[in-house]
Amino acid sequence: QIFDTPEEGARYVAAKIAAFINKRNSEGLPTVLGLATGNTPIPLYMELVRLHKEEGLSFKKVISFNLDEYYPISPDDVNSYHYFMFKHLFSHIDIDRANVHIPVGTLAEHMINEYCEGYERMIREAGGIDIQILGIGRAGHIGFNEPGSQLNDITRLVTLNPLTISDAAGDFGGAEFVPRKALTMGVRTIMEARKVFLLGWGEKKTEILAKAIEGQVGIEVPASFLQKHKDTEFILDKGAASKL
Ligand code: GLP
Repeated sequence: QIFDTPEEGARYVAAKIAAFINKRNSEGLPTVLGLATGNTPIPLYMELVRLHKEEGLSFKKVISFNLDEYYPISPDDVNSYHYFMFKHLFSHIDIDRANVHIPVGTLAEHMINEYCEGYERMIREAGGIDIQILGIGRAGHIGFNEPGSQLNDITRLVTLNPLTISDAAGDFGGAEFVPRKALTMGVRTIMEARKVFLLGWGEKKTEILAKAIEGQVGIEVPASFLQKHKDTEFILDKGAASKL
């Protein structure tokens, strides 16, 4: 779907999410959301906050799982995805803190495998992800599934791609301060979501989006695996769609 502006694309996705949550709420059932960070989803989160404040959209029964977190990083660090999620969404809505899950960036290394298995288990026990929100990195990653990630990968510790590190350098005040690793849901974790919205704005993303949407499916561009997903919508603005 191509929109004139990111705000219009964000409104479209927010309306779909809101309709889903309202339906589940009316049935007394939870909604499980998979959430992303980065600049891309900010207009979506702004619109969800507006729908909560102005139209009474309730997140009380929403369970959320974030895609990823840098490693190592403290949740209080302004560049952590923990900090980001509370700043842009969770502090402004009525979600129950106990229903919020974000990978923890402070674990001892020997705890990580068990922690990641537990993260997968929690998603399964919640009933699986109903709606997954994604951005895309210029290396072709979804979450932090960098080139080389396999279709079968689940939540795990990964090493960041040099392009990802240089794209994050501005936020961290220099590439040398960007964590070298991250915890991320796997491609398989994402592919198991029942509905996926991948958002992309601006010309900076157009080349990688063209590869993800129209290129060959494979590990060089992990986002391309979504071509095989049953219900993925790519939500782009005009700039992002310019090389399609
Ligand atoms: C990070 C995140 C991704 C995100 C990407 C793009 O690497 N791990 O989930 O999609 O950045 O960021 P932005 O939306 O700021 O372009």
